Amino acid sequence: MGTIRNLFTSPPHLPLAAPSILSADFGRMAEDCADVLAKGADLLHVDVMDGHFVPNLTLGPDMVRDIRRACPRAFLDVHLMVTNPEMFFEAFAKAGADHLTFHVEVIEPGRIEEVSEKVRRLGVTSGLCINPPTPVERILPHVSKVDLVLVMSVNPGFGGQAFIEASLEKTRAIRAVLREDQRLEMDGGIKPENAERVIEAGCDVLVSGSAVFGKKGEERAAAVRALRG
Ligand code: DX5
Ligand code: ZN
Repeated sequence: MGTIRNLFTSPPHLPLAAPSILSADFGRMAEDCADVLAKGADLLHVDVMDGHFVPNLTLGPDMVRDIRRACPRAFLDVHLMVTNPEMFFEAFAKAGADHLTFHVEVIEPGRIEEVSEKVRRLGVTSGLCINPPTPVERILPHVSKVDLVLVMSVNPGFGGQAFIEASLEKTRAIRAVLREDQRLEMDGGIKPENAERVIEAGCDVLVSGSAVFGKKGEERAAAVRALRG
């Protein structure tokens, strides 16, 4: 595949590799992003954290603007781990994001459709994310309202954490109610060793940070390839 500009035109169930830039070298972000794309990554997963919804602080729209300038053809999949995602939709869309995922834990159930439409009106696709402690029943009634569902397989905030096996069951339940034109993404603790099981559970977008950016050269390329099963 390599450097798609649309997550939703690739054939369904063709697993896509989405390195998370949380584990990139922030002092060489543009080069590190260009390198993983050159090594076969299908898109870039951009982790935005506000130090409130999660106990870490990462980057803002200006970083997305500069990644967009450095990687004009990359699909930028922005994951908003923030308490007030609506505050940032426009700035990230203007900066060059292709996709914006917000968390089910921070939006009133009755407003999820409205919030998803707010994202789509900016010309980007919408995603809804669920954390490990949140029961799948919280998100199932809403999956039809977004283009992508993101299942966290770690508690959000940091790269390099251990994969939470229970996320696979949650993923199967969500896959069962998704349409062919929607994508199912998993995020956290994903490595070549467990990628097959993530795909078997129904995911078609695999986010991986430390297992990709923690490697160099051919090892990094092999890690990207392994994410596709
Ligand atoms: C965690 C982030 C993940 C993380 C994945 O809060 O949402 O995207 O960067 O990193 P690894 O693959 O190292 O767990
Ligand atoms: Zn993420």
